[in-house]
Amino acid sequence: MALINLRRLLDHAAENAYGVPAFNVNNLEQIQAIMEAAEQTSSPVILQASAGARKYAGEAFLRKMVEAAVEAYPRIPIVLHQDHGASPAACVQSIRSGFTSVMMDGSLREDAKTPADYAYNVDVTRRVVDMAHAVGVSVEGELGCLGSLESGLAGEEDGVGAEGALSHDQLLTDPAQAADFVASTGVDALAIAIGTSHGAYKFTRQPSGDILAIDRIQAIHRRIPDTHLVMHGSSSVPQEWLAILREFGGEIRETYGVPVEEIQEGIRHGVRKVNIDTDIRLVMTAAMRRAMAQDRAEFDPRKILRAAKDAARALCALRFEAFGAAGMAERVG
Ligand code: 13P
Repeated sequence: MALINLRRLLDHAAENAYGVPAFNVNNLEQIQAIMEAAEQTSSPVILQASAGARKYAGEAFLRKMVEAAVEAYPRIPIVLHQDHGASPAACVQSIRSGFTSVMMDGSLREDAKTPADYAYNVDVTRRVVDMAHAVGVSVEGELGCLGSLESGLAGEEDGVGAEGALSHDQLLTDPAQAADFVASTGVDALAIAIGTSHGAYKFTRQPSGDILAIDRIQAIHRRIPDTHLVMHGSSSVPQEWLAILREFGGEIRETYGVPVEEIQEGIRHGVRKVNIDTDIRLVMTAAMRRAMAQDRAEFDPRKILRAAKDAARALCALRFEAFGAAGMAERVG
């Protein structure tokens, strides 16, 4: 199957009440791990590349590796999505390069740091929707800023994220404003702020409703039931992998992610795209630390990278299963 756009996949997900993990990719092993897990579980795939990924791998390498995934896995529908576009120009570049979906993150100004006002967000997002839809590319917008309800602080990760303190209003998407935003811009999917943030340090304790506002998803979904919602910052930061990371020399503070059951609750209320980057990075690094420590004579990077890939594949397969995407690959029309 050729690449498909996000709208087509998320319409299918909504009709069949499941969610699709959107995994961030930067290199060959991550793409292979995700595709192997998708093949194993018969799941449709969203591969997303951030500005950091494009800087790391180079746009041409990313594009060609995704082309290879399409060729190697002909029965798996794949969306190639640009994560956190900072400007209409960045989105146009990705569209030209063959992405089938782009995120215009107008919640922040073009520096990807300063919170933007609502009028700016509507303006840039609508401009991207006009251009993208003309060539069959889908658009994700964002309303509200990602950040911690626990600390009131925004979180920068991989070059994206507001700086400093944010108000409670900025940290939680307002349902009425979400309805106006979708009507004014025509976005295919909407990223909402509910207390999640990018990176490993999301919560200092197992999150409860006061710091992870799953009920806000329900309120937004009630207001705009036909809009596909997107949860950013959805890594679960598995404690068992943190333990392995620490056992083999990694230093990482006590921290908690978004429990899979909370994501499943979100999926019951309109979440269709679930962004995951940190978990893959975390399990790969933990697996590499362990592989290197357990065989200190090994100097072939392929052996180390194989351990990383195996760990990432297992994690991705679990998420495909948990979100209900498993078994759906053949059914996406
Ligand atoms: P995590 O850092 O929780 O994996 O979130 C990734 C993300 O939202 C990318 O847009």
